Amino acid sequence: MASIDFLRLIGISGTNKVMTGELSRLARRAVQGIRVPTPKKQGLGALVYPFDTQLAEVAVSYHRTCSRVLWDLFESSARRLEPLYEELASDIANDDRGWLWDGASLSIRARNVQSFAAGERQIVGTVKNALIDGAAKRGISLRVDAHEADIEIAVRIHDGVLSVSVDLAGGAMHKRGYRVEAGDAPLRENLAAVLLMLSRYDSRSDVLIDPMAGSGTIAIEAVLMARAESLWSEERQPDYLRLPAFERATLQTEPLFGDARPVVLASDIDARAMEFMRINAERAGVIDDLCIVHADLRDLSPRVIARNLGDRLPEGHKGLILSNPPYGERLQGGELDLYDDMGQWCESFPGYRAAFLMANLEFEEILGGTPRIRKPLSNGSLRAYFCLYEL
Ligand SMILES: C[S@@+](CC[C@H](N)C(=O)[O-])C[C@H]1O[C@@H](n2cnc3c(N)ncnc32)[C@H](O)[C@@H]1O
Repeated sequence: MASIDFLRLIGISGTNKVMTGELSRLARRAVQGIRVPTPKKQGLGALVYPFDTQLAEVAVSYHRTCSRVLWDLFESSARRLEPLYEELASDIANDDRGWLWDGASLSIRARNVQSFAAGERQIVGTVKNALIDGAAKRGISLRVDAHEADIEIAVRIHDGVLSVSVDLAGGAMHKRGYRVEAGDAPLRENLAAVLLMLSRYDSRSDVLIDPMAGSGTIAIEAVLMARAESLWSEERQPDYLRLPAFERATLQTEPLFGDARPVVLASDIDARAMEFMRINAERAGVIDDLCIVHADLRDLSPRVIARNLGDRLPEGHKGLILSNPPYGERLQGGELDLYDDMGQWCESFPGYRAAFLMANLEFEEILGGTPRIRKPLSNGSLRAYFCLYEL
C-alpha cells in the first residue's frame, strides 16, 4: 500500500472535458487567485487533481456534472486479502492527515473490484478491519455504522490498482434532494447538467425551452446551474465538513452567480408530469424562475412561447431548445409521428440551437438535417446519443 493524495471527480462516461470546464469556472469564481491544475483523466469519466482542500470544497459544494468527489488516500497493487490488510493497517497507523477522529463511524462501499481474488464483501471486511486496527494503533477508536456513518469510504480498482478514498459528499451528488416525484423516465440530475454544458447554455443570452420537460430536471438544473447554487443547505450537509482537514471550511449555501437571471420555459403534455415538475421546482427553490406551460409540443408555437414569457423575454435573445423526448430502443408508431412533428416544429425556430438526448440514431434522420454535435452518452443503463442542431 502507498499513501496518495488526490482529489477525484467521478462522472458519466464521456464527460471529462465538461467536468473539467465546470470545475475551472466554479473555482475561479469561488476562490480568488486560485490556479486550477490540469487534471489527469482516468478512463472516460474520472478526473484526478492533486488534493487541495479549497478545490475539494468548491467541487463538493457546487459541481453539478459529476456524481462523486473523492479524496484518494491509499492505493495498493495487492491481489490477496492478507497483504492488503497488512499494508493498509500499517499505512493508517502512520497517517496523520485529517480524515479520521476518535469516535468516528465509518461505512465502506466497494465498486469495480471484480478483478480482485476475493469477493466484494471480503474486501469490504478486510478494509474495515485494517482501518479500525490501524487507527487503534494511533489511539483512535473507529466503529462501523452502515446507515448513518460520519465517513463514507470508497474502495475501487482501476488499472489493477486498488484505491481507498473518502467520499467527501457522503454519497452520490446527483441526488440533489429536490426530486420527490420522478415521473416516468426522469433524467439523472447530473446528466441534465451535462446536457446543458454540451449545449453551451449561457443564461445571459439564451432563452431555454424544454418542450417535453417531464418532471422538469433540465429546466430546474438550468436555473440552478446558471446561478451556481450550492448543492447543500442547513438541513442537508455534506460529510467533508466533519473532517479535521476541513476544520476551517464552512457550509457553502450562497450562489456563486446570484445575479444571473435565466429565462426558462418548461412544458409537457402530461398533467401528472406537470404536477411533479411544480413540486420539484418548488423544492429546488426555482418555481418563480420557471415559466411552466401545459401543452402539446405541436401547439407550442413561438407566439405561444412569447405570450407566456411576456416581458421576461429579453430583446435580441438567442434560443436553445433542449429536451429528452420519449424514447425506446426501437421506435414505435406514436414516437415516429411525434419525431416527425418535432422536426417540423423545430423549423419554426430559425436561428435557435436544438439539442436532444435520444436512444436511437434513426431519430436523426426523422428530425432532418445533420447535427453539429453527435455524442454517445449513457442514460443510466440506456445507451443514448446527444445531438445538437443549428436551426
Ligand atoms: C423522457 S420524458 C422527459 C423526462 C424529463 N427530462 C425528466 O427529467 O423528467 C419525455 C416527456 O415527453 C412528454 N411528451 C410526450 N409527447 C409529448 C408531446 N406531444 N408534447 C409535449 N410533451 C410530450 C411526456 O409526457 C414525458 O414527460
